[in-house]
Amino acid sequence: THCILIGAPVDEGQRRPGCLMGPAAYRTAGLAATLSTLGHTVEDRGDVTPDPLGDHRCANPAVHHLPETIAWTGALRQATQDALPHGMPIIMGGDHSLALGTVAGVAAHAAAQGRAQFVIWLDAHSDFHTVATTTSGNLHGTPMAYANGLDGFDPFPPFPAPIPGENICMFGIRSVDPAELALMQPTDITVNDMRVLDEQGIVAPLRAFLDRVRAADGLLHVSLDVDFLDPSIAPAVGTTVPGGATFREAHLVMELLHESGLVTSLDLVELNPFLDERGRTAKLMVDLVGSLMGRKVFDRPTRSYG
Ligand code: ARG
Ligand code: MN
Ligand code: MN
Ligand code: MN
Repeated sequence: THCILIGAPVDEGQRRPGCLMGPAAYRTAGLAATLSTLGHTVEDRGDVTPDPLGDHRCANPAVHHLPETIAWTGALRQATQDALPHGMPIIMGGDHSLALGTVAGVAAHAAAQGRAQFVIWLDAHSDFHTVATTTSGNLHGTPMAYANGLDGFDPFPPFPAPIPGENICMFGIRSVDPAELALMQPTDITVNDMRVLDEQGIVAPLRAFLDRVRAADGLLHVSLDVDFLDPSIAPAVGTTVPGGATFREAHLVMELLHESGLVTSLDLVELNPFLDERGRTAKLMVDLVGSLMGRKVFDRPTRSYG
């Protein structure tokens, strides 16, 4: 695979400074070398520059950094869409508001190809607020609702090719606000919350979704939020929620995604290196990308893989 690294130093979608250091941390933790060791070619396109700021306002007084977020959305949509014909974009965040742009980019690309776009959202949170419903005002809590084509996103540009709920699968969910729940209830989104994973494990729910992607000959975007992981193994995130995915569960998800051969783009979001402990979260995220891109053995005895 030709891997195209795109830095997205987005910090404006939440209130704890530090996610802007994410791209530098991934580079320092050896993301490019990890990929080339696995036999991939790697191109680092550097960090994206946001579009010029517009004079945007909205009715919800809680919302902050709206013009900045719209400026990032435009530039990241373009950068992602431009990369897709050449390889697999890996967006190094940056907080999760960057997905307003990256998912718009993959959806526009899929529509141009006449292919169906699918998204797997690996996160403690559903990120299903709109600009109108968010009470925190943090726009990193909104990209899934934007991608699903919901109203309430004025003055964002309309989402290019809304992704139907049946093409969206959330994994690891354990924090949903009441307004998000109300918005998600009528959709066909698959929400594999931690209860589902406790009862059924990772494999069955993930295979079920991947089978649907394959049957539709779809493109698959993976959005990996650091807080999908348990805080004990991934402390470098502003929005920790207890009870997250373990080391082995997370690697298993990545290995299954690799074996599917379906993944066409990837976001790495919410890493806040300022909160990290000697780079361990950055290194874990790089190791997870390694598993997603074909590494078969990490710290356990060798076994055979089908
Ligand atoms: N639902 C909460 C909010 O809207 C938390 C969102 C957390 N999102 C994230 N990408 N970490 O503020
Ligand atoms: Mn600011
Ligand atoms: Mn998120
Ligand atoms: Mn989250």
